Amino acid sequence: MSFNELFTEVFFLQTEHIRITDPQAQEGTLLRAAEILRSGGLVVFPTETVYGLGGDGTRDEAAKKIYAAKGRPSDNPLIIHIASPADAEKYAYTNPTYEKLASAFMPGPLTVILPKRENIPTSTTGGLDSVAIRCPSHPVAHRLIELCGFPIAAPSANLSGKPSPTCSAHVAQDMDGRVNMIIDGGESEVGLESTIVKIDGDRLTILRPGGITYDALCMVCEHVTVADAVLHQLKDGERPLSPGMKYRHYAPTAPLVLLKGEVDAVLTFLQNEQNQKRCAILCYDEEIAHLHPDKLFPIGARADLAAQAHTLFHALRDADRTDAEIIYAHLPPMDGLGLALYNRMIRAAAHTVLEV
Ligand code: TXA
Ligand code: MG
Repeated sequence: MSFNELFTEVFFLQTEHIRITDPQAQEGTLLRAAEILRSGGLVVFPTETVYGLGGDGTRDEAAKKIYAAKGRPSDNPLIIHIASPADAEKYAYTNPTYEKLASAFMPGPLTVILPKRENIPTSTTGGLDSVAIRCPSHPVAHRLIELCGFPIAAPSANLSGKPSPTCSAHVAQDMDGRVNMIIDGGESEVGLESTIVKIDGDRLTILRPGGITYDALCMVCEHVTVADAVLHQLKDGERPLSPGMKYRHYAPTAPLVLLKGEVDAVLTFLQNEQNQKRCAILCYDEEIAHLHPDKLFPIGARADLAAQAHTLFHALRDADRTDAEIIYAHLPPMDGLGLALYNRMIRAAAHTVLEV
């Protein structure tokens, strides 16, 4: 397919929007979605982490269309989504560590990197000889993959450089006219992308923290490390373990600054800033009563990391649509689910942390 054909095919589509509340009762609609995928089209579908931009994971042209629709560099590999943990063996070389992870965390928000088999094209894996595999727990995603009978390759359904979408309205902002169908399956429960681990024998390296935490992985595997790039900026010329680490991720139009300090000191700082600047604030629920409501985006209670994960991308999109000259948020803790929040926020803030 020429670039022009691909361009025309991907950017001027009549996108069909459907809502699925009951995958069993609406099987006919899901069959139609599976048919679109089977004939090489693109379908956005809900998962428990974020929405995915799906194509046939075994087909070269589908991967190319996904990269074009997302505006994503084609060396940043895609995750393939399977209906059952046992299916991984069809597309990758699994091992006992995979079996342990699968029985503990799948279906769910965990992606594993394994050596790939021939049936997964290198266009899907960004030229790598490994493949990322995930078995989502969302009932719509699960049934759609099952009906396809092939793995669905899907990155997050945002335009490259935007936060991952956690509801169909955000998908539509980015993908209308670029995909054949968008399936609305409600709000994503976790709200952050899956935990990605690379499996080497009995060793795990966390390439991206997510809903399955470091502590949870340690309960199942003895050797778990966190890749350097999860917490720190890559040094010039440093080769990342995951191609995604080298790309600049979502950065809001206004600079995002993360605040570190005592509870009262941070609140006083925010109150003063609100008097002086057009600032948007991602605050904790406890702070709502103490701050001016203009451009204020609560992300959950201070101690409720799950609520914060669920709300973060939504709040970032909302804050970015205001006229704020600066966006403030709290520096998340690094334990439990905090590590995933920390990883996303420190990158969105280009590592800008202010101690107050
Ligand atoms: O929760 C999720 O994982 C969502 C939903 C849709 O499943 N998907 C998602 O995909 O976040 P994406 O493409 O936005 O992020 C996938 C990340 C990228 O950073 C990519 O570099 C990395 O996974 N990745 C994929 N295959 C890899 C491989 N073989 N080796 C190392 N990293 C890989
Ligand atoms: Mg993504």
